[in-house]
Amino acid sequence: MAGERGFIILDFGSQLTQLIARRLRENHFYSEIHPYNFDLEKIRAAKPYGIILSGGPNSVYEKGSPLRDVKELLEVAPVLGICYGMQLMAHTLGGEVQSSSHREYGFNQVHWSEEISGVPQDQKVWMSHGDVVIKAPPGFEIIAQSKGGHPAAMRSKRAWGVQFHPEVAHTENGVAFLNHFCKDFCQAPPNWKGQHIVQQLQDRVRQQVGTQDHVMVGLSGGVDSSVVATLLTKTLGAERVHCVFVNNGLLRKNEYEEVLQQYKNVGLNVKGVDATEEFMSALKGLSDPELKRKAIGRVFIEVFEKELSPKYPIRWLGQGTLYPDVIESISFHGGPSQTIKSHHNVGGLPERMKLGLVEPVRELFKDEVRALGKELGLPAEMLGRHPFPGPGLAIRVIGEVTPEALRVVREADAIFISKLRQHGLYNQIWQAFCVLLPVKTVGVQGDGRTYDQVLSLRAVTSSDGMTADWFGFSFEFLREVSGEITNKVKGVSRVVYDITSKPPSTIEWE
Ligand code: XMP
Repeated sequence: MAGERGFIILDFGSQLTQLIARRLRENHFYSEIHPYNFDLEKIRAAKPYGIILSGGPNSVYEKGSPLRDVKELLEVAPVLGICYGMQLMAHTLGGEVQSSSHREYGFNQVHWSEEISGVPQDQKVWMSHGDVVIKAPPGFEIIAQSKGGHPAAMRSKRAWGVQFHPEVAHTENGVAFLNHFCKDFCQAPPNWKGQHIVQQLQDRVRQQVGTQDHVMVGLSGGVDSSVVATLLTKTLGAERVHCVFVNNGLLRKNEYEEVLQQYKNVGLNVKGVDATEEFMSALKGLSDPELKRKAIGRVFIEVFEKELSPKYPIRWLGQGTLYPDVIESISFHGGPSQTIKSHHNVGGLPERMKLGLVEPVRELFKDEVRALGKELGLPAEMLGRHPFPGPGLAIRVIGEVTPEALRVVREADAIFISKLRQHGLYNQIWQAFCVLLPVKTVGVQGDGRTYDQVLSLRAVTSSDGMTADWFGFSFEFLREVSGEITNKVKGVSRVVYDITSKPPSTIEWE
């Protein structure tokens, strides 16, 4: 276990297993995720403070379901079983599980028969299960019931089982419950801090890349690639980490110059490449969103290929892939995760490039990457920046991307964002931008008739970009932004505000 003492999380196939690790990190406990059948000797050698059994989509009675003897785990350390983990515990320790093909999703209420530190006695929880434990194993007592009348939590001297998911944000005080298990029940010291995470990621990078190879990083101007480039640079040295920041002509107003300077200021070995013409000619005549995305992906690859210098043994491409990008969809259904939108950035690497991927933050969530960036000393201005998509303004100009359309959306965007900053709203919002619609409507300006385009404002709150809600601006704010845009941006005669959440919409329009 990488020399750290912590918790072992055994994964029985839940989509939420990474969230358990994340909540433990939040409580300053180290953990490692392993497959459900991870070797017992290795578990013993790790001397974990505790072992957590994740949920999973199966029934313990199903043929081929992942089974494991919980008794031998209990000889190593205290165990917490979550959902399927609790059922497995009951099944293998002499309790009884009632099989049911009917799954129960969503909110439930549980009533605790005793006080658990930090947890309300009547607690709102998130459940997603079919089977239930109907009889606790010998030595266990049932200490919480669900509204539906089945056991929601059981405990023995050495083990805990909960039917609900304490790791999801929808469970009220779920983090406090996990903290109670780790700190009070397992007596683990909460000493896993930001600097340990940095060290661990650095160790992994050194192991993967070795002592000779060089890495190339495509910088997008966003938080994730900036943090990854900084982490790699601090680990391998600037001479082995070659960053490329491409001006694809689809960036926001002044962004290329400003961001390039910022990268230099934080010590990255960065080269700016102006490929505006290549991108614009690849986009000419395209209006279908997928074709636009593919063309942009292709040109990015071509630019990166040109930058691969024979002078250095560049064998790796560093990418800021996050955990939500990996699963693409957080589903509570336990089924295979589904793709909401094809993942966009570079769209996969061609074989001929012979590059391996280094993705040091692929187990982390956005807010954790921001915290990591802070730990690495990156300025708040860089870390607080709203996410910006790889295809840039091309997916905010609906239809064909022309220099004129880019001018309009760029000018309007600069006004919108500066108003957000002026009113102290920027940091309350996950992402805000303008979208130029290929629709012309009639207006009247200065006694004359106009026939110009419609522009939509979009601003959403979100915790990870997977789900989002539109931001509730005051009417006065919207009036001010709309007035400023129609007065100052030639080509726009009507401004609308997008009031759709995700789902059913996505954040970007294309
Ligand atoms: P959607 O539009 O799918 O976006 O709801 C979710 C988040 O992903 C960003 N996004 C992208 N980021 N390359 C990126 O790096 C892309 O092609 C891309 N498309 C969408 C989007 O801005 C939002 O933050």
